[in-house]
Amino acid sequence: MLRIAVVGSGPSGVYTAQALVQQQDVPGVTVDVLDRLPCPYGLVRYGVAPDHEKIKSLQNNLRAAMEHPDIRFFGNVPVGDGPRGIAPRRLLDLYHAVVYCVGAATDRRLGIPGEDLPGSFSATEFVSWYSAHPDAAPGGFVLGARSAVVIGVGNVAVDVARVLARGAGELHHTDVPDAALGALAESRVTDIHMVGRRGPSQAKFTTKELRELGTLPGAETLVQAGEAALDPAWADPGALPAVGRRNVEVLREWSGRPPAGRPRRIHVRFFLRPVALLGDGAVRAVRFERTVPDGRGGIAGTGEFEDVEAQLVLRSVGYRGVPIAGLPFDGGLGTVPHAEGRVLRDGTPSPGEYVAGWIKRGPTGVIGTNRSCAKETVASLLADAGALSARTPVTAEEARAVLRAAGRRPVEWPGWLGIEAAEAALGRRLGRGPVKIPDWAGLLSAARADG
Ligand SMILES: Cc1cc2nc3c(=O)[nH]c(=O)nc-3n(C[C@H](O)[C@H](O)[C@H](O)COP(=O)(O)OP(=O)(O)OC[C@H]3O[C@@H](n4cnc5c(N)ncnc54)[C@H](O)[C@@H]3O)c2cc1C
Ligand SMILES: NC(=O)c1ccc[n+]([C@@H]2O[C@H](COP(=O)([O-])OP(=O)(O)OC[C@H]3O[C@@H](n4cnc5c(N)ncnc54)[C@H](OP(=O)(O)O)[C@@H]3O)[C@@H](O)[C@H]2O)c1
Repeated sequence: MLRIAVVGSGPSGVYTAQALVQQQDVPGVTVDVLDRLPCPYGLVRYGVAPDHEKIKSLQNNLRAAMEHPDIRFFGNVPVGDGPRGIAPRRLLDLYHAVVYCVGAATDRRLGIPGEDLPGSFSATEFVSWYSAHPDAAPGGFVLGARSAVVIGVGNVAVDVARVLARGAGELHHTDVPDAALGALAESRVTDIHMVGRRGPSQAKFTTKELRELGTLPGAETLVQAGEAALDPAWADPGALPAVGRRNVEVLREWSGRPPAGRPRRIHVRFFLRPVALLGDGAVRAVRFERTVPDGRGGIAGTGEFEDVEAQLVLRSVGYRGVPIAGLPFDGGLGTVPHAEGRVLRDGTPSPGEYVAGWIKRGPTGVIGTNRSCAKETVASLLADAGALSARTPVTAEEARAVLRAAGRRPVEWPGWLGIEAAEAALGRRLGRGPVKIPDWAGLLSAARADG
C-alpha cells in the first residue's frame, strides 16, 4: 500500500494522480489530490480562454480521471505557510510520498520605469479576472481605455488581445463571470497593439491561435510591412522550422493592407523593445526602442524610440513559479530543483518528495505536455516504491483528519459538484450557459450547500 498526496489539481496534478492509480507495477496505490482553491483543474479552469470551448472541455477528461475510486479531492487546502497552510515536512508525516504540481502562479516582471502605473497590469491579472479566479483583482481594466498595448507575442498575449477585440456579445455564451462580461460590454477599446521585441519568425504564438485573430467578426489585424521585413526570414521563410514558417506566412497575408474600417484593430508589431511606461498618475503610452536583428537570434537597440498610446497595458511576458515555504526553490529559474521529478534538497534527492508540471520544468508547454512530464515523475516514484513503503506515515483516516483540522474546511468532490451545480443555476438565471462564481464566499457557500 502506498498513499500519495498530489499537491495541485491542474493538468500535471490530475495526470500524476491518474498515472499512479492506473499503473500495474505497484498494487494498492491511493491518491489524495490537494488544492488551495475549492475548484479543481488549475489553468484549464482559470487560464484557458473562455471562447476556446473545445480546450475548456478537456475538463471532462480531467473530471473522469478524478472520479477514479482510488483518488480523492481536498480543495481549499493550501500547502506552505499561512495560518491554514500545511508545511511540506508535515505532509511527509501524513503520506508515503508527496508530488508537488503547483504550477507557476505569478507573472514575470519587465523591470522598467512606470511598470506599476495605474492602467498597467500583468496578463495574469487580466486572465484571472475574466476567468473568475477568486483571488483576481476586482476589475476596472477596460474602464475609459481606447488604446491598449499588449507586451509580448506568446499565446497568452494572443488570448488577451483576442478577448479585448471580441465584443461582449461574442462572449455571452461562455462562462465569463457576469461582472467581467458587463465591463467588456462597456469597453471603448478600439486599438490593440500586440508588440514583440524580436521578429515575426521568433514570435512564440502558434499559428492556429495567430490565424484566429484574423477571423474575429468585429476586428481586423494589421501588420506594418516595413517593420516585419526587418526579419531576415521574412522574404524567404522556407528554411524556418514549421511553426515559424507558418506564422510568417499568415503575417505576410496581413502585412501592408490598409484598415478596412472594422470597429476594432489589432496591430501586430515587431522589433520594439519596451523601455518605459509613460504617464502622470496613470499610464498614457508605452515607450519602445526600435531594435534590429543582431544576426544571432537576438536583437540590438537602435537608439530610436516610438511612443504607442495606451490607457491600458497588459504585460504578457511569461509566468513564474512561486516558492512554497519549506520546499527548495531555484529563484533564477522559478522552479523546484529536481532530478527526473525527484525533489533535490542541497543537491540530493529528498526521500518522498517529487515534482511535476510547470513548477518542475518552467511555464512552457501545452496541456498535453504535462502528461509526459507527470509520467516521468511517476516512473521515478514507482522506482522508489520499496523505500517509500518502508516509511511509516499515519493512517489514511488520521491524515484526512489533519487535512480537516486547524481551521481548514476542505471542499471534497461532492462540494465541487455543488459549485458546478450552482454555476449552472446562476447561468440559467442569467439566460446563459454555466457562469462562473468569481468570489471565495460564493464558491464556499455553493460547496457547502451541496457538499
Ligand atoms: C492564460 C493561459 C492560457 C492557456 N491556454 C492553454 C490552451 O488553450 N491550451 C493548452 O494546451 N495550454 C494552455 N495553457 C498552458 C496550460 O494551462 C499549462 O500547460 C498547464 O495548466 C500547466 O499545468 P500545471 O498543473 O503544472 O499548473 P496549473 O494548471 O497552474 O495547476 C496548478 C494547481 O496548483 C494549485 N496550487 C498552487 N499552489 C498551491 C499550494 N501552495 N497549495 C495547494 N495547491 C496549490 C493551483 O490552485 C492550481 O490548481 C495556458 C496557460 C495560460 C497561463
Ligand atoms: N492556445 C494555447 O495553446 C495556449 C494559450 C495560452 C498559453 N499557452 C502556453 O502557455 C505557455 C506560456 O505562454 P506565454 O505567452 O505566457 O509565454 P511565452 O510563450 O514564453 O511568451 C512570452 C513572450 O514574452 C516576450 N518577452 C519576455 N520577456 C520580455 C521582455 N522583457 N520584454 C518584451 N518581451 C518579453 C517573449 O519574447 P522573446 O521570445 O523575445 O523572449 C515572448 O514573446 C506557452 O507554452 C504557451 O504556448 C498555450
